[in-house]
Amino acid sequence: MCGIVGYIGNQKASNIIIKGLKRLEYRGYDSAGLSTMENNQIFTSKCKGKITDLESLPSIEEHINSFGIGHTRWATHGEPNIDNAHPHNDSDNIFSLIHNGIIENHYSIKEYLFSKGIKFKSDTDTEVLVQFISYIYKKEKLDFYNTVKAVLKEVKGTYGIVVMCKNEPEKLVAAKNGSPLLIGIGKDENFLASDASAILDETRNIFYLDDGEIAEITKNTYKVTHIEHNQEIIKDIKEIEFSLDQIEKGNFKHFMLKEIYEQPKAIEDAIRGRIDLDNNVKLGGIADYVDRILESENIFITACGTSWHAAQIGSYLLEDILKKPVKVEYASEFRYRNKSINEKSLLIAISQSGETADTLAAVSKAKEKNALTLGIVNVVGSTIARETDCGIYMHAGPEIGVASTKAFTTQVVILILFANLLAQRNKIEKSKLYLKDLKDTPYLIKDILKLSDQIFEISKEYSDASNFLYLGRGYQFPVALEGALKLKEISYIHAEGYPAAEMKHGPIALIDKMMPVVVIVTKNGFDKILSNIQEVKSRGGKIITITTVDSKALKDLSDHYIFLSNSVNVLNAITPILTSVPLQLLAYHIAVLKGCNIDQPRNLAKSVTVE
Ligand code: G6P
Repeated sequence: MCGIVGYIGNQKASNIIIKGLKRLEYRGYDSAGLSTMENNQIFTSKCKGKITDLESLPSIEEHINSFGIGHTRWATHGEPNIDNAHPHNDSDNIFSLIHNGIIENHYSIKEYLFSKGIKFKSDTDTEVLVQFISYIYKKEKLDFYNTVKAVLKEVKGTYGIVVMCKNEPEKLVAAKNGSPLLIGIGKDENFLASDASAILDETRNIFYLDDGEIAEITKNTYKVTHIEHNQEIIKDIKEIEFSLDQIEKGNFKHFMLKEIYEQPKAIEDAIRGRIDLDNNVKLGGIADYVDRILESENIFITACGTSWHAAQIGSYLLEDILKKPVKVEYASEFRYRNKSINEKSLLIAISQSGETADTLAAVSKAKEKNALTLGIVNVVGSTIARETDCGIYMHAGPEIGVASTKAFTTQVVILILFANLLAQRNKIEKSKLYLKDLKDTPYLIKDILKLSDQIFEISKEYSDASNFLYLGRGYQFPVALEGALKLKEISYIHAEGYPAAEMKHGPIALIDKMMPVVVIVTKNGFDKILSNIQEVKSRGGKIITITTVDSKALKDLSDHYIFLSNSVNVLNAITPILTSVPLQLLAYHIAVLKGCNIDQPRNLAKSVTVE
């Protein structure tokens, strides 16, 4: 959700910024812009659209200086046009600012500034912030750093900001509250970014700002304090672990396809070192908390989007193994509900990015109530990973495609490992069976990926469809939800996921010969789902079956039959890791056939850092 890059050093800033923004484009691609200091003036170029549009602006050639800021935007306030693009400058062009987040009290600040005669060029909360900085700077006669600090004390909301000031060139000021921001340390140069991937080929040494922190950065120095005090905060510099080829497409046409094909490796990495020779699970990040987890009187799992679908699977698993109720809540709802959460509760927060604002807010709410919080997170060092009491990293590697794929399957893998660890402690032996099948999933997925051509042929028949229905029972219901979400996200075809039996309570009214119905069938509830398929068939619906069951009856009823032949004997709880893969490929091929932008679907962002 909005990408931020700042640079101060000896290289041409616009090159570094544009390169970094391209890597961050998955966070938002409504508009883009950059500011550098040229001939002692702030010089800004911006445009509606993508970084390539920014790059082809004639004015880009004039950005030759070695210090500046840049932004790629996912619109929150104001439509995605050139006026609303970042950076935003104050009316006197003293300051230029980039922002990720939402300034919640911008209306009242804007009214106040308006009453002082300040005119606004955009509809954004960000412009309000930069105009306010300029107003306080002139009124209070503070220096650059202390002006930003004073203003942020008055601001409510979330932000990751980087500011430059014409009167104090060779210095950037950055601050964070709720939206991610990190500083990269180089030799005679320093970097700022909302995500490490932006600066990976420039430096590997980084530290994250924490909420409430504000930093002053020159090319050779950095100083961090807190908005509320002046004491210097010493930050731990960490080395970024992932490599460049992990965030590049390689021979794949799209990141999404690359990430679908990376799933066997991602799962191996998620499992690696976590199952010993006696089939015991070891999870270092929660080792000290297992007793407390087992003693929890109630368990909640919270997440958004695809991660929420993994959470659903997690609740089935944990209930199955622990025989305890496990409640799944959308993170955006969680914070306004669940009065029953208390110091005997466990909240599991699942998030690929570790930065989703709603999920983070749910974690904060659970912490307020003294519940134990556990994060299942992919991005190492992300805010949710840091804010939770304990956690398990997914180790899926960077996921760039906006539509989540390998993150989903590794989240399910982690939930299976977690459930097993708890079962071990409760001496439930049967759970070890899961581990045997789990270890096979990388090979099984490799075989499933070979079905891509068959799925492509099926996709050709349905790329013009306006609606799709996805049906599954038990563990396959969240898979149906996830399949429908994938299709919606990247092909813009309306799709709904339903528990197969629930179809007769409404969606069945939609079925006619124009309606493709994807049915995910495993051994569990096989006879019942066969009846559900017949109900669709008798109303003319087209059946696309994805199944781990070799059945002539099922094949005869299906218009298309995608048989995962090697997964016939896999335990039910493991099957979502497998059945979700053909659904990813189906959505992918349909979207490609429709000519959609696979990695940057309209209106979406990879990491949603606003509530
Ligand atoms: C956005 C993304 C989804 C993702 C969701 C939750 O909506 O487009 O792909 O599932 O956020 O993200 P998280 O990083 O918390 O898993």
